[in-house]
Amino acid sequence: MDATCVIIVGSQWGDEGKGKVVDLLAGHFPWIARYQGGHNAGHTIVIGGQRFVLQLIPSGILRGTAKAVIGNGVVMDPQALVNEIAMLEKAGIAVQGKLFISNRAHVILPYHRMIELAAESAPGRIKIGSTSRGIGPTYEDKMGRRGLRVCDLFNHELLRTHIHNALLEKNAVAAALYGSAPLDPGRIYEDYVGLSEQIRPYITDTALLLNQAAARGEAILLEGAQGALLDIDHGTYPFVTSSSTLAGGACTGTGLAPTRIASAIGVSKAYCTRVGEGPFPTETGGEPAQEMRRRGNEFGSVTGRPRRVGWFDAPLLRYAAMLNGLSSLIVTKLDVLDTLARIPVCVGYRLDGKLIDAVPAVAADWDRLEPVYEELPGWQSSTEGMTEERQLPARARDYLKFLASQAGLEIGMISTGPERDQTITVAGSSLAQLLGPSRASTQSAKN
Ligand code: IMP
Repeated sequence: MDATCVIIVGSQWGDEGKGKVVDLLAGHFPWIARYQGGHNAGHTIVIGGQRFVLQLIPSGILRGTAKAVIGNGVVMDPQALVNEIAMLEKAGIAVQGKLFISNRAHVILPYHRMIELAAESAPGRIKIGSTSRGIGPTYEDKMGRRGLRVCDLFNHELLRTHIHNALLEKNAVAAALYGSAPLDPGRIYEDYVGLSEQIRPYITDTALLLNQAAARGEAILLEGAQGALLDIDHGTYPFVTSSSTLAGGACTGTGLAPTRIASAIGVSKAYCTRVGEGPFPTETGGEPAQEMRRRGNEFGSVTGRPRRVGWFDAPLLRYAAMLNGLSSLIVTKLDVLDTLARIPVCVGYRLDGKLIDAVPAVAADWDRLEPVYEELPGWQSSTEGMTEERQLPARARDYLKFLASQAGLEIGMISTGPERDQTITVAGSSLAQLLGPSRASTQSAKN
């Protein structure tokens, strides 16, 4: 079997700039697929000064050549999808014939949001700081084998009964535990019948579609959402999202076999951010944090919350590289550090005074971690918009070299601004080779 699929994953806590990277790579792949998460993701892409925030549809759709797939591992809110399709069409981006949604994806219903909103603020619950999109409760229903799948939307009798039965339980729980007002099953049923008709043209068996494409030798880019440290199994549990964000999730979330996967590429900021609650060993405050937040526009693209900011964390990157089997790293937002005089990088952790290799499993241990820093001199000149590695100031090159050696990975691409062309592809890297001849144009030449 030829391996034709490449996975792009976030190697921190999400918001690494995957949207821009996927948009860039999409020109080289005829297929782009999302495999987990839902409209909790926020992929921001700036094209010619116009800013797009895609939450559900793979950001590859912005490339006219790519077909976009929402895989079975995604949880899908039909209203969010319809809104996003309308936003794209208004911007002149064709969606019809280019977007395919799995008939096996699970559906987010209004009661998932109700339960999540109520539970997050309930006494005695650990506050996760979720995006309040109903993601977690939808995955709970999926794993509890009581979820509603996209294919079920078109059997109206089943849909009506499902919503009715689900609300018997959810309304009772929400009222008893959180004092929430009940939701009306009839209203939700009517809304979902209307929405399902709007999305009907896009629904198909995407596992079959992707496997047929792969069998024809067409390359597929698998677009991860969130990041490695938000993975349900390997992240900073319980402060994680409810899906498998790692490269491993790409197979179950699309139906593509592991033998189809050629490589996994990680995306990391030149520093670190996190939204929501949970451990963040290199978090920093004060003037440098404010400067990075301002220069990096570090506010959540879904919720608008200010992101927490910190220094590059090499132990976490090594952990993400191990879990994802990363072959290459893309470093984003280098320009955000342009003004700093000194840049600390975390190179290891101490727990109770001892240097440790492994990342802790116990949430409370994270709070006792002491990062070990090495400080590098800043370059204090603008790297914004640079497109060639040789244009970078020597200290910026040294900083990147240090990150690469600490991570044990080659850096294949560096992003120096939000626009497509504000990017350096590192000559001679495996990523540069991958991007060599355009796979999309090779494919259309074959057809
Ligand atoms: P949920 O995914 O809405 O359940 O939120 C769980 C945790 O993941 C919260 O800390 C969120 O802030 C975080 N999260 C979810 N999606 C993203 C994302 O796309 N970027 C960054 N953090 C995210």
